Amino acid sequence: MENFESLEKEILQKIISAENEDAVEKIRVEELGKKGRISKLLSELGSVEPDKRKIIGPKVNNLKNIISEKIQDRKEYFINLKLDKRLLEEKIDITLPVKINQNNNGRIHPVSQVLEEISEIFGSLGYEISDGPDIESEYYNFNALNIPDSHPARQMHDTFYLDEYNDDEGQSVLRTHTSPVQVRTMENGKPPFKFISPGRTYRCDSDQTHTPMFHQIEGLAVDESTNLGHLKWTLETFLSAFFEIENTKIKMRPSYFPFTEPSIEIDVLCDRSGSVLKIGEGSDWLEVAGAGMVHPNVLRSANINPAKYQGFAFGFGLDRLAQLKYGIPDLRTFFSGDIRWLKHYGFAALDIPTLSRGLKK
Ligand code: DAH
Repeated sequence: MENFESLEKEILQKIISAENEDAVEKIRVEELGKKGRISKLLSELGSVEPDKRKIIGPKVNNLKNIISEKIQDRKEYFINLKLDKRLLEEKIDITLPVKINQNNNGRIHPVSQVLEEISEIFGSLGYEISDGPDIESEYYNFNALNIPDSHPARQMHDTFYLDEYNDDEGQSVLRTHTSPVQVRTMENGKPPFKFISPGRTYRCDSDQTHTPMFHQIEGLAVDESTNLGHLKWTLETFLSAFFEIENTKIKMRPSYFPFTEPSIEIDVLCDRSGSVLKIGEGSDWLEVAGAGMVHPNVLRSANINPAKYQGFAFGFGLDRLAQLKYGIPDLRTFFSGDIRWLKHYGFAALDIPTLSRGLKK
């Protein structure tokens, strides 16, 4: 039988001198393969007399274990070396500017852009985003918002009625505003609430300033002490950030909405003297939103105790905000699907809004 120590030394030396993974594999075959030296020693053990086998057996096994382990280690060393080399070669510099081909790239629609901008601003003020269905029931679109069956406001909404009817919730309608999300969201949660809900809305109406489908954004804040002062601050803060103006001035005019009491309309200071409308300057006023303190009946519809909770709501026309901010004159062009229009008014995919950066909170 061999001198195991010198054999071990010899093989280890070979392993260390191996210069690549293939060379290590070759050693493995030579020593541990079917016809390998160590395998041979192992198979010879059977013919050794038992007393001797007791001594030699563990030695051969030990040798086999050590060599296997060293071979494995050496292989891993080469694998890692290869990987490191590849990682280094395939490194990409993520700080390099993106190649944008202006002609072939899609553009973000101004409505989507403005929606992102608004969400980013309200998000930074702690508002969540809440969704509701486009196909609403009369109940959520009207009754739950304190607009009972006979209420004249129903006529003003130019509602698209659908054929479906349900005993509990009345006829199905295409929602005429985003306000129904107020009740749906409050029903499914617990106060305090602070959310916006943007989305599509529909009215049977079409001219230069009206399209049958348009977008609104609803806002709601309800807790035990929210008041009109908070509403004023919130809207001023939002409008300043949105129009990127230091301090937007707003005027609150008394108005009427069935779902708020008191109800107000929000005008923003603007200058109409030049050829372009300038927000935040001059001495004219432009109506931008409806708002008010949530009517107690609306809170009751959502099973919220109006003796304990109160809050404000507001509603903006999203398309209108986009028109004002980006100087887009005709609302109908928003939905005409004209690629030239989109190329002109659209945004690059990487125009991610950061308007809330300058917010004074
Ligand atoms: N839902 C109203 C509309 O479509 C807009 C509105 C006004 C929403 C006042 C509100 C609000 O939340 O408080 O004309």
